[in-house]
Amino acid sequence: MNAVTTSAVRFEHVSMRYGRSPLLALSDVALVIDEGEFLCLLGRSGCGKSTLLSLAAGLETPTAGRVDLGGRRVGMMFQDSGLFPWLTVHGNIELALRLSGVPKRERSDRIAELLEVVRLPGVQQRRPHELSGGMRQRVALARTLAQECQVLLMDEPFAALDAITRDAMHDEIERIAGERALTVLFVTHNVREAVRLGDRVVLMQPGPGRVASELIVDLPRPRRMDDPDIAVRAAVLRDRLDEQDELERRSAAA
Ligand SMILES: Nc1ncnc2c1ncn2[C@@H]1O[C@H](COP(=O)(O)OP(=O)(O)O)[C@@H](O)[C@H]1O
Ligand SMILES: [Mg+2]
Repeated sequence: MNAVTTSAVRFEHVSMRYGRSPLLALSDVALVIDEGEFLCLLGRSGCGKSTLLSLAAGLETPTAGRVDLGGRRVGMMFQDSGLFPWLTVHGNIELALRLSGVPKRERSDRIAELLEVVRLPGVQQRRPHELSGGMRQRVALARTLAQECQVLLMDEPFAALDAITRDAMHDEIERIAGERALTVLFVTHNVREAVRLGDRVVLMQPGPGRVASELIVDLPRPRRMDDPDIAVRAAVLRDRLDEQDELERRSAAA
Protein backbone atom coordinates (compact mmCIF):
# COMPACT_ATOMS: atom_id res chain seq x y z
CA MET A 1 0.00 0.00 0.00
CA ASN A 2 1.25 3.47 -0.82
CA ALA A 3 1.67 6.04 1.89
CA VAL A 4 -0.97 8.73 1.50
CA THR A 5 0.47 12.21 1.21
CA THR A 6 -1.73 15.24 1.51
CA SER A 7 -0.78 18.41 -0.29
CA ALA A 8 -0.47 21.50 1.91
CA VAL A 9 0.12 24.15 -0.74
CA ARG A 10 -0.87 24.00 -4.39
CA PHE A 11 0.07 26.48 -7.09
CA GLU A 12 -2.05 25.74 -10.17
CA HIS A 13 -1.06 27.48 -13.41
CA VAL A 14 -0.11 30.56 -11.46
CA SER A 15 0.94 33.67 -13.35
CA MET A 16 1.62 37.04 -11.82
CA ARG A 17 1.95 40.47 -13.38
CA TYR A 18 2.57 43.52 -11.20
CA GLY A 19 0.55 46.54 -12.32
CA ARG A 20 1.10 47.23 -16.00
CA SER A 21 4.56 45.74 -16.14
CA PRO A 22 5.19 44.22 -19.59
CA LEU A 23 7.02 41.33 -17.92
CA LEU A 24 5.42 38.50 -16.02
CA ALA A 25 6.95 38.07 -12.56
CA LEU A 26 5.71 34.48 -12.71
CA SER A 27 4.54 32.46 -15.66
CA ASP A 28 2.39 29.34 -15.38
CA VAL A 29 3.84 27.95 -12.17
CA ALA A 30 2.55 24.51 -11.17
CA LEU A 31 3.87 23.33 -7.83
CA VAL A 32 2.51 21.09 -5.09
CA ILE A 33 4.08 21.04 -1.64
CA ASP A 34 3.23 18.05 0.51
CA GLU A 35 2.12 18.26 4.12
CA GLY A 36 5.25 18.31 6.27
CA GLU A 37 7.56 18.82 3.32
CA PHE A 38 10.54 21.17 3.55
CA LEU A 39 10.74 22.76 0.13
CA CYS A 40 13.49 25.15 -0.87
CA LEU A 41 12.98 27.64 -3.70
CA LEU A 42 16.33 28.42 -5.26
CA GLY A 43 17.21 30.91 -7.96
CA ARG A 44 18.92 34.11 -8.97
CA SER A 45 17.52 37.46 -7.95
CA GLY A 46 14.38 38.43 -9.84
CA CYS A 47 13.11 34.95 -10.70
CA GLY A 48 9.95 35.37 -8.64
CA LYS A 49 10.79 33.57 -5.38
CA SER A 50 9.44 36.30 -3.11
CA THR A 51 6.41 36.68 -5.35
CA LEU A 52 5.60 32.99 -4.88
CA LEU A 53 5.77 33.41 -1.11
CA SER A 54 3.59 36.54 -1.20
CA LEU A 55 1.01 34.58 -3.16
CA ALA A 56 1.13 31.69 -0.68
CA ALA A 57 0.70 34.19 2.16
CA GLY A 58 -2.28 35.75 0.40
CA LEU A 59 -0.53 39.14 0.33
CA GLU A 60 -0.91 39.19 -3.45
CA THR A 61 -3.53 37.72 -5.76
CA PRO A 62 -2.35 35.87 -8.87
CA THR A 63 -3.12 37.41 -12.25
CA ALA A 64 -4.06 33.94 -13.44
CA GLY A 65 -4.33 30.54 -11.84
CA ARG A 66 -4.97 29.48 -8.27
CA VAL A 67 -3.11 29.16 -4.98
CA ASP A 68 -4.70 26.74 -2.53
CA LEU A 69 -3.62 26.14 1.06
CA GLY A 70 -6.77 24.35 2.12
CA GLY A 71 -7.33 26.93 4.87
CA ARG A 72 -3.97 26.32 6.56
CA ARG A 73 -2.49 29.07 8.68
CA VAL A 74 0.71 30.66 7.42
CA GLY A 75 3.54 32.37 9.25
CA MET A 76 6.22 34.43 7.55
CA MET A 77 9.83 35.21 8.29
CA PHE A 78 12.18 37.54 6.41
CA GLN A 79 15.86 38.46 6.30
CA ASP A 80 15.09 41.32 8.66
CA SER A 81 13.59 40.12 11.94
CA GLY A 82 10.88 42.76 11.72
CA LEU A 83 10.72 43.00 15.50
CA PHE A 84 9.28 46.22 16.88
CA PRO A 85 12.31 48.03 18.37
CA TRP A 86 10.24 49.81 21.03
CA LEU A 87 8.88 46.55 22.44
CA THR A 88 10.78 44.02 24.55
CA VAL A 89 11.12 40.42 23.40
CA HIS A 90 8.16 39.66 25.67
CA GLY A 91 6.14 42.45 24.08
CA ASN A 92 6.95 41.35 20.54
CA ILE A 93 5.91 37.74 21.09
CA GLU A 94 2.93 38.72 23.22
CA LEU A 95 1.56 40.78 20.37
CA ALA A 96 1.50 37.70 18.13
CA LEU A 97 -0.18 35.66 20.88
CA ARG A 98 -2.76 38.38 21.45
CA LEU A 99 -3.55 38.53 17.73
CA SER A 100 -3.95 34.74 17.78
CA GLY A 101 -6.50 35.06 20.59
CA VAL A 102 -4.41 33.55 23.39
CA PRO A 103 -5.84 34.75 26.74
CA LYS A 104 -3.65 37.17 28.68
CA ARG A 105 -3.14 34.84 31.67
CA GLU A 106 -1.59 32.17 29.42
CA ARG A 107 0.73 34.42 27.48
CA SER A 108 3.76 34.61 29.81
CA ASP A 109 4.01 30.81 30.04
CA ARG A 110 3.65 30.49 26.28
CA ILE A 111 6.37 33.09 25.71
CA ALA A 112 8.73 31.21 28.02
CA GLU A 113 7.94 27.94 26.18
CA LEU A 114 8.48 29.48 22.76
CA LEU A 115 11.82 30.95 23.82
CA GLU A 116 12.80 27.47 25.03
CA VAL A 117 11.87 26.05 21.63
CA VAL A 118 14.20 28.49 19.86
CA ARG A 119 16.82 27.94 22.59
CA LEU A 120 16.91 31.50 23.80
CA PRO A 121 15.42 31.33 27.28
CA GLY A 122 15.34 34.23 29.68
CA VAL A 123 15.57 37.17 27.27
CA GLN A 124 11.98 38.37 27.76
CA GLN A 125 12.95 41.80 29.05
CA ARG A 126 15.57 42.58 26.42
CA ARG A 127 14.96 44.88 23.49
CA PRO A 128 15.86 43.92 19.91
CA HIS A 129 18.89 46.26 19.76
CA GLU A 130 20.40 44.41 22.75
CA LEU A 131 20.42 41.13 20.81
CA SER A 132 22.76 39.80 18.12
CA GLY A 133 21.43 39.21 14.60
CA GLY A 134 21.13 35.48 15.25
CA MET A 135 19.27 36.06 18.51
CA ARG A 136 16.87 38.44 16.79
CA GLN A 137 16.08 35.78 14.20
CA ARG A 138 15.43 33.29 17.00
CA VAL A 139 12.95 35.72 18.53
CA ALA A 140 11.40 36.31 15.11
CA LEU A 141 11.00 32.55 14.76
CA ALA A 142 9.42 32.30 18.21
CA ARG A 143 7.01 35.06 17.27
CA THR A 144 6.10 33.29 14.03
CA LEU A 145 5.55 29.99 15.88
CA ALA A 146 3.32 31.88 18.32
CA GLN A 147 0.81 32.17 15.50
CA GLU A 148 0.38 28.38 15.49
CA CYS A 149 1.01 28.29 11.75
CA GLN A 150 1.03 25.03 9.83
CA VAL A 151 2.83 26.50 6.83
CA LEU A 152 6.02 28.44 7.40
CA LEU A 153 7.08 30.84 4.66
CA MET A 154 10.70 31.94 4.95
CA ASP A 155 12.27 34.49 2.61
CA GLU A 156 16.07 34.32 2.90
CA PRO A 157 15.73 34.43 6.71
CA PHE A 158 19.38 33.69 7.45
CA ALA A 159 21.01 35.59 4.56
CA ALA A 160 22.35 38.37 6.79
CA LEU A 161 23.89 36.05 9.41
CA ASP A 162 27.52 34.97 9.65
CA ALA A 163 28.27 31.39 8.63
CA ILE A 164 28.56 29.96 12.15
CA THR A 165 25.30 31.51 13.31
CA ARG A 166 23.63 30.41 10.09
CA ASP A 167 24.75 26.81 10.67
CA ALA A 168 23.19 26.93 14.13
CA MET A 169 19.94 28.31 12.73
CA HIS A 170 19.85 25.53 10.13
CA ASP A 171 20.03 22.98 12.94
CA GLU A 172 17.21 24.74 14.80
CA ILE A 173 14.84 25.12 11.88
CA GLU A 174 15.40 21.51 10.82
CA ARG A 175 14.62 20.32 14.35
CA ILE A 176 11.60 22.58 14.87
CA ALA A 177 10.07 21.86 11.45
CA GLY A 178 10.43 18.13 12.17
CA GLU A 179 9.03 18.28 15.71
CA ARG A 180 6.04 20.38 14.70
CA ALA A 181 5.47 18.68 11.34
CA LEU A 182 5.52 22.07 9.65
CA THR A 183 5.29 22.53 5.92
CA VAL A 184 8.08 24.92 4.98
CA LEU A 185 8.66 27.04 1.88
CA PHE A 186 12.15 28.36 2.22
CA VAL A 187 13.54 30.88 -0.27
CA THR A 188 17.27 31.15 -0.79
CA HIS A 189 19.84 31.96 -3.44
CA ASN A 190 22.41 29.91 -1.51
CA VAL A 191 22.79 26.53 -3.19
CA ARG A 192 24.32 24.70 -0.22
CA GLU A 193 21.73 26.08 2.15
CA ALA A 194 18.96 24.80 -0.15
CA VAL A 195 20.43 21.29 -0.17
CA ARG A 196 21.24 21.37 3.56
CA LEU A 197 17.61 22.09 4.42
CA GLY A 198 15.31 20.89 1.67
CA ASP A 199 13.55 17.57 1.17
CA ARG A 200 13.30 18.97 -2.34
CA VAL A 201 14.86 21.94 -4.07
CA VAL A 202 12.92 23.71 -6.80
CA LEU A 203 15.15 25.68 -9.12
CA MET A 204 13.57 28.76 -10.65
CA GLN A 205 14.67 30.92 -13.53
CA PRO A 206 13.91 34.52 -14.45
CA GLY A 207 12.44 36.30 -17.49
CA PRO A 208 9.58 35.40 -16.86
CA GLY A 209 9.88 33.77 -13.46
CA ARG A 210 9.18 30.06 -13.69
CA VAL A 211 10.11 26.64 -12.39
CA ALA A 212 13.16 25.32 -14.23
CA SER A 213 13.76 21.96 -12.56
CA GLU A 214 13.81 20.22 -9.22
CA LEU A 215 16.05 17.98 -7.18
CA ILE A 216 14.93 15.54 -4.50
CA VAL A 217 17.36 15.59 -1.57
CA ASP A 218 17.10 12.06 -0.21
CA LEU A 219 19.61 12.47 2.61
CA PRO A 220 18.94 11.47 6.22
CA ARG A 221 18.43 14.05 8.96
CA PRO A 222 19.80 15.69 10.93
CA ARG A 223 22.20 16.87 8.26
CA ARG A 224 25.40 18.81 8.42
CA MET A 225 26.46 21.57 6.08
CA ASP A 226 29.92 20.02 5.61
CA ASP A 227 28.52 16.62 4.63
CA PRO A 228 30.14 15.59 1.30
CA ASP A 229 26.74 14.33 0.04
CA ILE A 230 25.46 17.88 0.33
CA ALA A 231 28.43 19.22 -1.63
CA VAL A 232 27.79 16.71 -4.44
CA ARG A 233 24.15 17.73 -4.80
CA ALA A 234 24.98 21.42 -4.51
CA ALA A 235 27.42 21.02 -7.41
CA VAL A 236 24.63 19.58 -9.57
CA LEU A 237 22.44 22.61 -8.85
CA ARG A 238 25.31 25.04 -9.35
CA ASP A 239 25.91 23.54 -12.80
CA ARG A 240 22.26 24.05 -13.67
CA LEU A 241 22.44 27.68 -12.54
CA ASP A 242 25.59 28.20 -14.62
CA GLU A 243 23.79 26.74 -17.63
CA GLN A 244 20.92 29.20 -17.10
CA ASP A 245 23.41 32.07 -16.96
CA GLU A 246 25.12 30.88 -20.11
CA LEU A 247 21.82 30.64 -22.03
CA GLU A 248 20.86 34.09 -20.81
CA ARG A 249 24.19 35.55 -21.94
CA ARG A 250 23.75 33.99 -25.38
CA SER A 251 20.20 35.22 -25.80
CA ALA A 252 21.27 38.71 -24.68
CA ALA A 253 24.10 38.67 -27.22
CA ALA A 254 21.88 37.39 -30.05
N1 LIG B 1 5.77 44.97 -5.83
C1 LIG B 1 6.29 44.84 -7.07
N2 LIG B 1 5.92 45.69 -8.07
C2 LIG B 1 6.42 45.56 -9.30
N3 LIG B 1 7.28 44.59 -9.68
C3 LIG B 1 7.67 43.72 -8.73
C4 LIG B 1 7.21 43.81 -7.39
N4 LIG B 1 7.78 42.79 -6.68
C5 LIG B 1 8.56 42.13 -7.54
N5 LIG B 1 8.50 42.68 -8.78
C6 LIG B 1 9.19 42.17 -9.98
O1 LIG B 1 8.84 40.81 -10.15
C7 LIG B 1 9.97 40.02 -10.53
C8 LIG B 1 10.19 38.92 -9.50
O2 LIG B 1 10.59 39.55 -8.27
P1 LIG B 1 10.78 38.75 -6.90
O3 LIG B 1 9.60 37.89 -6.68
O4 LIG B 1 11.10 39.76 -5.86
O5 LIG B 1 12.05 37.86 -7.24
P2 LIG B 1 13.12 37.19 -6.26
O6 LIG B 1 12.55 37.14 -4.89
O7 LIG B 1 13.38 35.86 -6.87
O8 LIG B 1 14.36 38.05 -6.33
C9 LIG B 1 11.13 41.00 -10.66
O9 LIG B 1 11.24 41.37 -12.00
C10 LIG B 1 10.70 42.17 -9.82
O10 LIG B 1 11.26 43.37 -10.30
MG1 LIG C 1 13.25 37.94 -3.07
